[in-house]
Amino acid sequence: MIKVSPSILSADFANLGAEVKKVVDAGAEYVHIDVMDGTFVPEITLGAGIVKAIRPVTDAVFDVHLMVEHPDTQIESFIKAGADIITFHVEAAKHPHRVIQAIHAAGCKAGISLNPGTPVAMVEELLADVDLVLVMSVNPGYGGQKFIPASLSKLRRLRAALDACGSQAELEVDGGVTEANAQEIIEAGATVLVAGSAVYKSKDIKATIKALHGRN
Ligand code: DX5
Ligand code: ZN
Repeated sequence: MIKVSPSILSADFANLGAEVKKVVDAGAEYVHIDVMDGTFVPEITLGAGIVKAIRPVTDAVFDVHLMVEHPDTQIESFIKAGADIITFHVEAAKHPHRVIQAIHAAGCKAGISLNPGTPVAMVEELLADVDLVLVMSVNPGYGGQKFIPASLSKLRRLRAALDACGSQAELEVDGGVTEANAQEIIEAGATVLVAGSAVYKSKDIKATIKALHGRN
């Protein structure tokens, strides 16, 4: 089953609660929450306080994407705030395996993410332990960028590697996902499609989310 995870980075922050509710009502299974610290990536977005504030709006899965240095220091507050999945970057952690253990010990699902320039080998030893693998299909930091085509080959290789170790982990793709490329992304093996601008700039959000689920 394909899941769609609209990124609230492209939402109207002045009406965040309603913006979250809008995409869930339109058929999204997840809500993608982009946390940026101004160091791992240039911008600063939102913290655990905002996650806590929007948590009562919906029961949908809160898919927290930490684009931060020292992700281990942020786990507790985001779990307390209501995160269901916490994904951090392999490039940001000295001991990614330990971070995964810490997320699990706190009762949350754990995801590992790789930037476009990071080889699959960097996460190979972690695949059996994670609940989600997030392939960045743009360089993290901003919404509205263009999908990097080489991400499709990376998705295929990760799909094969996850299948080979019998993992049921979700394979998520983030950046430049649109109605036009959703089907090929799904065919490459992705199970969760993040989309920020494609969803929030859509004139018919319900139709867009339906299209992002692919043809079957
Ligand atoms: C980029 C973020 C993405 C981004 C996706 O750093 O991780 O989640 O908001 O936005 P679109 O879908 O507009 O590329
Ligand atoms: Zn993201």
